[in-house]
Amino acid sequence: MKTNLILKNVDFSWPNEEKTITNCSFEINEPGLFMIVGRNGCGKSTLFKLIQRIINPTSGSIDGPDDVFTVFQNPDHQILMPTCGSEMILNIRETFDKKRMQQRVDDVLNLVGLNGFILRPVQTLSGGQKQRLAIASALISNSNFILMDEPTALLDEISQMEIIKLVQTLTTSAKRPITVLWITHRMEELNYAHKIGIMEKGYLSEWVSPSNFKYH
Ligand SMILES: Nc1ncnc2c1ncn2[C@@H]1O[C@H](COP(=O)(O)OP(=O)(O)O)[C@@H](O)[C@H]1O
Ligand SMILES: [Mg+2]
Repeated sequence: MKTNLILKNVDFSWPNEEKTITNCSFEINEPGLFMIVGRNGCGKSTLFKLIQRIINPTSGSIDGPDDVFTVFQNPDHQILMPTCGSEMILNIRETFDKKRMQQRVDDVLNLVGLNGFILRPVQTLSGGQKQRLAIASALISNSNFILMDEPTALLDEISQMEIIKLVQTLTTSAKRPITVLWITHRMEELNYAHKIGIMEKGYLSEWVSPSNFKYH
């Protein structure tokens, strides 16, 4: 399965707008937690729409995985089913017999810390638990490339840190490490990244390590 993402000299403009994405080039070719930080309006969500192929570059090229899964800021915008278990089954792409399906759902809910939540109505979950369920949906869909667009923006500090630590664990799992491209405007999250890209006015810096990160 292809997990590499390669952007080469990508430009993009929304109709009647100045360039939103300017000469953007970067590669992700290993699992890990890659964070892009930048002020509101600098083009982060537009970049994600390009990677998801919702929009196409004005010039330049994007080569990437076909199975990108996006976790949005507000989990209520993506969870469709009434219970955690049925949401999991909705996102399974393989065909399993009933017993294996149940096992797979159990396993994935355990992975995100929602042990025993199969029958729980989604409406009884906290914001952090809903975000865990959205991450579980990505895992059960077998996507190993997840885009997260300010996934902690609506969470309290405790859930914010729980979600970051969960994602960090999933990206370093010995068995099946995933790749997460995470956008944020919250500086305190950057310490948990493997690599950081800084976006300013549609231009993305080279990847830097958290220890070398300077924001100005
Ligand atoms: N669907 C759209 N149509 C027109 N302009 C848009 C659209 N989405 C975003 N933009 C513009 O693109 C710029 C970057 O927005 P966005 O990518 O959402 O930034 P960020 O996610 O960093 O806050 C903004 O000027 C915004 O107004
Ligand atoms: Mg945005």
